[in-house]
Amino acid sequence: MKTNILKRHAFRCLLALHFFGLALTLGTRFANLVIGRETSGGDLRTLAFGRDLTGSLAQTLVPPGFLLMAVTGIVMVVLRYGRHPPLWVWIKVGLNASALLLVSPFVAPALAAARQWAHWSVEHNRLAPEFQDAAAQASFYGSIVFSLFLLNIPVAIWKPVSISLAKIPALRAWRAEHQRQREL
Ligand code: HEM
Repeated sequence: MKTNILKRHAFRCLLALHFFGLALTLGTRFANLVIGRETSGGDLRTLAFGRDLTGSLAQTLVPPGFLLMAVTGIVMVVLRYGRHPPLWVWIKVGLNASALLLVSPFVAPALAAARQWAHWSVEHNRLAPEFQDAAAQASFYGSIVFSLFLLNIPVAIWKPVSISLAKIPALRAWRAEHQRQREL
C-alpha cells in the first residue's frame, strides 16, 4: 500500500520534470525562431550576433532539456509498465532516436556553416552567397527534427497503441522459440 503511494508520487514528480524538459526544449526552439526573424533583416553584424545567440541557446538549453525528458520518460516507463512497455512507448523511442540520428550529421554542420558564413560576411562587409544556402539547409533539417520531436506529443497524450509488444501473438511465439533454442 505504502509502496503504491510512493510510486504514484514518484511518477507525478517525474512527469513534472518531463514537462520541465519539454518546456526547455520547445521554449528554446520558439525563442530561436523569434531571434532569427528579428535579426535577419538587420545589418551583417546583427545577423552574425543573431546566429551566435541562437547557436548558444541551442547548445546550452536543448541538450539538458532533452536529456531530462528522455531520462524521466524511461524511469516512468519502468515504474508504470515494468519490462513490457506498450507499443506507443516504442513509437516515442523510435521518433526520438530518428530525430537524434539526424542532428549530428545534418543539423549541427549546417548551423555551424551558417554561423561561420555570417562571421565571414561581417569581416568582408558583404553577405556571403553561401550563407543563404547553409541557413536554408539548417532550417530544412531543423524542421524535420522538430516535427519528429513534436509528434511525441500526440503519441503521449492519445497513446494510440496501448498493447504491449509482448502481447503480439507472432512475437510471443518467436520469443518462446528463441528461449527454447537457448535452453537446448
Ligand atoms: C525516450 C523518450 C521518452 C519516453 C520514454 C517517454 C515516456 C513517457 C511516459 C512513460 C509518459 C507518461 C505517460 C502516462 O501517463 O502513462 C510520458 C508523458 C508525456 N510525454 Fe514523454 N517520453 C519521452 C519523450 C517525450 C518527448 C520528446 C515529448 C515531447 C516532445 C514527450 C511528451 C510527453 C507528454 C506531452 C506527456 C504527457 C502525456 C499525458 O499526461 O497524457 N515525451 N512520456
